[in-house]
Amino acid sequence: MNTQDWLVKEDGFCENCQLSDDWEWKDKTYRLYRFLTDLEDILEQTQDEQQILLLVRPLVRRLLTSSYWIQGEYTWPNAQQGWSVSTLYDEVDFPLTIQMVVWLPGQVSSVHNHGTWGIVGIISGEEKNLFWRRNPDLNAPHQIKQVGEKILRAGDIISLMSETIHSIEVIGDEPVISFNIYGATNYKKRYKFDPINHSATNF
Ligand SMILES: [Fe+2]
Repeated sequence: MNTQDWLVKEDGFCENCQLSDDWEWKDKTYRLYRFLTDLEDILEQTQDEQQILLLVRPLVRRLLTSSYWIQGEYTWPNAQQGWSVSTLYDEVDFPLTIQMVVWLPGQVSSVHNHGTWGIVGIISGEEKNLFWRRNPDLNAPHQIKQVGEKILRAGDIISLMSETIHSIEVIGDEPVISFNIYGATNYKKRYKFDPINHSATNF
């Protein structure tokens, strides 16, 4: 199993992040409720996205390693739709999205940003991420260009900022199962991009 953590900012550069030594949790169970409490504490401490990602990323790794049951909390997608989302935790006025997502082989996502910070942990399968950067000109304010890519495998964790633009595709014959957590979405700043026509739409 790989143990790599990545951070992609709005410039589309994929940075390898140092893994923290989590030895004190080796023999203890880090449960979902504790993760949620820690998360709430962090979000009260800081609104800086990079800081949030820095602090939450190791907790996501700890949770996925320690609370193994989470890895099985997904629903199988309808073959026609090609993907499924299962909510792991949802509470009114606690503006976080925590879900398990499954993509079937052959699926390709839109090119999008999230309008909030996000952390995705790959549970199984292989997923190619393409990273894009805004490249506006006078006639095409939503023009983007592809600036990098990264294949993520089981055990990899990627963190994204509000303005980070990416698209994903499933590689190989295995579905991609992932754990996903996102902050409060700013829908006015969340876009799907059309890299051919240089346009973007809110979603
Ligand atoms: Fe995404």
